[in-house]
Amino acid sequence: MSLLTEFESIVRSGEPLAPHTWFHLGGPAEYFAEPRTIEELQMLVRRSVDEGIPLRLLGGGSNVLVRDEGVPGMVVRLSAPAFSDIAAKGRRVTAGGGAKLGHLISVSVREGLAGLEPLVGIPGTVGGALNGNAGSRGGDIGQWTCRATVMTRSGDLLVRERDDLTFAYRESSLDELAIVAAEFELEQEDPEELTKRMQKYWIVKKAAQPLGHQSAGCIFKNPRGMSAGMLIDQAGLKGSRVGGAEVSDLHANFIVADASATSQDVLRLIDLIRSRVAERLGVDLETEIEVW
Ligand code: EPU
Repeated sequence: MSLLTEFESIVRSGEPLAPHTWFHLGGPAEYFAEPRTIEELQMLVRRSVDEGIPLRLLGGGSNVLVRDEGVPGMVVRLSAPAFSDIAAKGRRVTAGGGAKLGHLISVSVREGLAGLEPLVGIPGTVGGALNGNAGSRGGDIGQWTCRATVMTRSGDLLVRERDDLTFAYRESSLDELAIVAAEFELEQEDPEELTKRMQKYWIVKKAAQPLGHQSAGCIFKNPRGMSAGMLIDQAGLKGSRVGGAEVSDLHANFIVADASATSQDVLRLIDLIRSRVAERLGVDLETEIEVW
């Protein structure tokens, strides 16, 4: 039996990926799967491994650029309710890897649990946030994480405890195929104070970043002690364009795309920014987004 027949209720072939990403760009996935349970995910992973089909996990699509030619193999998305539960108990909150980070933040704040509120406004899923240790100047998700349940590339389910996890700037040791669920230990605080603080973070962020646009957050990592956005701005690149992709006038570390843009436009603009910043300021920028 072919993989498509066996998993026909959860796997589609040739699925356009653009609508699943914030950039709204790029080609299709050869196979695209939305398993409904952990067991289904496990069977799918094992079967794909047996058939030599490469697997990738797509979170909220807010930190990824899909190439125009699309991606070979299987793209898996944990969009089913089984992967998006959020529950608070005492100082602990558990969340499915497919839950929205924003949802986790609002549940925590409502429960009077502090720690994640500086991350307000960061799009994407809890799994994606953990994989890239999403954060802001106020902190990152890793510092509050005490446990994660992951699925390895061979389909084994593992629980990884705090001592076994390392997080650094936009980096995490949670690099298995999928983060199925995670647990956070937060600090008790008055929900009203906490809500006010979160609102302040949100206002500052909204004023500084082009959040409503077709984009993928910051394109480059900040080099140690510097801001990539400031460097790109100093290199005079705000407003620079390749086709339908443009360096944001609001924050130079964002590329915004218009309806005519292709992924190739964004990639060419990334190259242009990198070479201009290296040439004018002597700094090599490294991308933060994933290019598929
Ligand atoms: N700046 C400019 N021009 C610009 C952008 C920024 O001069 O076009 C200056 C600002 O005026 C400020 C400094 O650069 O003095 C730093 O800017 P900002 O506060 O916006 O922070 P950032 O270092 O550019 C980082 C994260 C953001 C996060 C913000 C706020 C990275 C690559 N960026 O940006 O994260 O939201 O701090 O905490 O780490 C992301 O990772 O996708 C992201 C958007």
